[in-house]
Amino acid sequence: MNGVFMAVFSYRNRPLWGLIALALLFGCIAPDPILPPPPVESVGAATRHGQELVDGLGACGFCHSVDGHTASALSGGRLIRDKFGDVRAPNITLAQSGLGSWSEADVRKLLRANIRPDESVISPDFHKGFEWIADEDVAAITYYIRSLPRAENSVEPRRLSFIDRNITGFFDTRLEVKGFIPAINPSFKTEYGQYLTDTIARCGSCHSKPETFLTSEEYLAGGREISFDGEVRVAPNITSSKSAGIGEWSEAEIKKFLLSGQTPQGREVDPRFCPVRFYQRAPESQIDAVVAYLRSVPAIN
Ligand code: HEC
Ligand code: HEC
Repeated sequence: MNGVFMAVFSYRNRPLWGLIALALLFGCIAPDPILPPPPVESVGAATRHGQELVDGLGACGFCHSVDGHTASALSGGRLIRDKFGDVRAPNITLAQSGLGSWSEADVRKLLRANIRPDESVISPDFHKGFEWIADEDVAAITYYIRSLPRAENSVEPRRLSFIDRNITGFFDTRLEVKGFIPAINPSFKTEYGQYLTDTIARCGSCHSKPETFLTSEEYLAGGREISFDGEVRVAPNITSSKSAGIGEWSEAEIKKFLLSGQTPQGREVDPRFCPVRFYQRAPESQIDAVVAYLRSVPAIN
C-alpha cells in the first residue's frame, strides 16, 4: 500500500494526484474525519426544525423534565428504571449544571454513541435508535436547545462501573456510528416515516419485544415493561397484526391516536407512559409519514 502512495507522490507535476492520495491516506488513518458543516439554510429555520424534533416526535422533555410535560423545562429530574437500576434523566439546558460546556460535536457523540465529553458512558437503553440520527437533525436540536432559557438543576449523574457494564451486557447493544449521516428527503414518505419512527421517536425502544437468550428482539411486537416513578406499564403490540396489534385500525385512526392519545375504542392512553402529548406537537406532515410507515410494518402475533 505504501509503495502505491510513494509512486503517486513522485508525480510532482501532477498536484491533483497528490491531493487524491492525501485524501485516501487521510481516509485510511484518520480515526474520526472532520466533517463539513451540515447543510442548514439558516439558524432560524434550523431552530424551528429543532423545536419540531425536541418538542414533537423526539419527545426529549418526556424524560428530561421533572414531570414529563411538554411545557416543562428540560432541566432533568424524571426517575426512570433500566436494566442497571434507577437513573434520573439529566439537565439538558445550557445551564452550568446542564450542557453549558458541551459543543454540537459533543451532543452528536452522545446521541450516536452514548459517550459523554469526559468519555464516560450512559445507558444505551433510553436513547436506543438515536445512533442513526442525521447530522442536520443533531445541528437543529442543538440550535433549539441553545435558544432555550438556562435552568439550573443539578442531577447527580449515574456512574456505571466496569463490572456493571460488562456483567449486565452493556457492550452487546452499544453501537458507534461514525461519519456523516445525510437527512432523508421527506418526499419519500414511507422511508421518511421509518426514519422518524426508528431514529427520532424510537417507538421500538418501548414497543419492541426485548430479546432473550433464546429469541431475538421482535420489532414493535410489544411486551417491554416501562417504569417511571415506581409505576410499571407494558407497551402493547403495534404491528399490523389484526389480533394482537393495531391491524384493525384505519390510517385515520392511527393518526387520530398520535394527535390525541385516544384509541378507536375511545380509551385514553396514559400520557406518562406513551409520549402522545409530544406527538401532538409534531408537524402534521411528520405524523402522516409515521402513519404511512406503520401501515407497512409486518404483523407479528
Ligand atoms: C426515554 C427517556 C429519554 C428520552 C426520550 C431522551 N432522553 Fe436523553 N437521557 C435519558 C437518560 C435516562 C439519560 C441518562 C442515562 C444514564 O446516565 O445512563 C439521558 C442522557 C442524555 C444526555 C447526557 C447528559 C449528561 O449530562 O450526561 C443528553 C445530552 C441527552 N440525554 C439528550 C437528549 C435529547 C436531545 C433528547 C431528545 C432528542 C433525549 N435526550 C431524549 C433519557 C431520555
Ligand atoms: C416511552 C415508551 C414509549 C414510546 C417511546 C412509545 N410508546 Fe406507545 N405506548 C407505550 C405504553 C407503555 C403504552 C400503553 C399505555 C397505556 O395502556 O395506557 C403505549 C400505547 C400505545 C398505543 C395504544 C395501543 C393499544 O392497543 O391500545 C399505540 C397505538 C402506541 N402506543 C403507538 C406508539 C407509536 C406509534 C410510537 C412512536 C411514534 C410510540 N407509541 C412510542 C409506551 C411507549
